[in-house]
Amino acid sequence: MVHFSTSGTTSRPSIENSVYPVGKGIIIEGDKIITIGDSEDLEFEYGNDSDHLVIDAEGGAIIPGLIDCHSHLLWSGDRSQEVRWRLEGKTYRDISTMGGGIQSTVDATRSSSKGELHKEGYVRLRAALRSGTTHMEVKSGYGLDTKTELDLLEVSSILSSDENLPTLDPTWMGAHDTPKEMTHEAYIDSLIHEQLPAIVDQGIARSADVFCEPGWFSVEESEDILKASRTAGLNLRMHIDEFEESGGGQLAAELKVQTADHAYHTSLDTRLNMKEAGVMTGFLPGTPYAMGDPWPNMSEVHEYGIPYTLATDFNPNCQTLSLPFMASLMVQRCRVQPLDVLAAMTVNAAKSSPHTNGDHGIIQEGAIANINILDSPNWESFSLKPSHTPFRATILNGKFMTH
Ligand code: NIG
Ligand code: FE
Repeated sequence: MVHFSTSGTTSRPSIENSVYPVGKGIIIEGDKIITIGDSEDLEFEYGNDSDHLVIDAEGGAIIPGLIDCHSHLLWSGDRSQEVRWRLEGKTYRDISTMGGGIQSTVDATRSSSKGELHKEGYVRLRAALRSGTTHMEVKSGYGLDTKTELDLLEVSSILSSDENLPTLDPTWMGAHDTPKEMTHEAYIDSLIHEQLPAIVDQGIARSADVFCEPGWFSVEESEDILKASRTAGLNLRMHIDEFEESGGGQLAAELKVQTADHAYHTSLDTRLNMKEAGVMTGFLPGTPYAMGDPWPNMSEVHEYGIPYTLATDFNPNCQTLSLPFMASLMVQRCRVQPLDVLAAMTVNAAKSSPHTNGDHGIIQEGAIANINILDSPNWESFSLKPSHTPFRATILNGKFMTH
């Protein structure tokens, strides 16, 4: 049990309740926030209670645990050489046709054991936790056959149960690419009639995701896969309009999917349809950063009140696990206010990737005790330190961890 005191000179923002004044404390029991009150009163009530560990934030501001609601955490291999091809002018599509891209990661992933995948996932999740991530959505999609897709989901489930790591929200993304050994049509058939039933039977994945983009899965194919997934009981997510606007956003709105991500080339009309349909937009600034592409037009997004999340999209082509780095890109390159960035990585991300044990992404009584303690009295500093963790410590599901 933890008595968390914010004594010192700081104030702390809560997205919904604006600012908690100086001198507030938080009582945590198990993995939940039980009480938020005046530090002095809490000190009086709990301070001498040996069941409660007292932690002083020493003037550091606190923000909710960050939620990375779009990642491709588990894969093997290394595609670093692709950077040279990109700088020579090859596009993502060209590199994929040359045998690089997703296909080459699939080869490496298929030849890894579950133990090796677990080890890679463990190291990555420790790095994410040091950057303040307390929960992560994790997609399969580098297996592209039933056995490896099941293995990837099993490894996510094992990692998620480790109390020293962020909790995970597993997504099946068999529809990430077509494997070399099959025709596209045969693969779609096997996705719907073989992989999906096996994934549902395994019972680990909560959602299905499809790479809806010309050259990968068309709007019609995505619709078939998503509808079958919904019928089988999965929530729906999509990758849309990463390279061009191709109708994925319209499908996202029609199907009222939970979130449609990338969405760089999505027109304003489609953004408004998605908003109307209650579809979250997931921006992934690490991708244009890695590819040298332009940033999304965030002033339009703000002007029309489009609800959005921000996540890392961690993958072999975009190897960042740091949400504070994403925050820096948005604040220091895209002129987005730090509070909007914080909301996108906490309260909004919680809608996109809910926690199975209760509310998260917010510091309030009854919520899961996922909290980051900054090494600065100013909460905005979470977005200004792209090179090293801005956090002194993280409380993960009620457990205090220093960095
Ligand atoms: O979300 N665009 C599709 N999938 C990943 C990248 C996959 C890869 O290049 O390995 C993404 O960016
Ligand atoms: Fe992605």
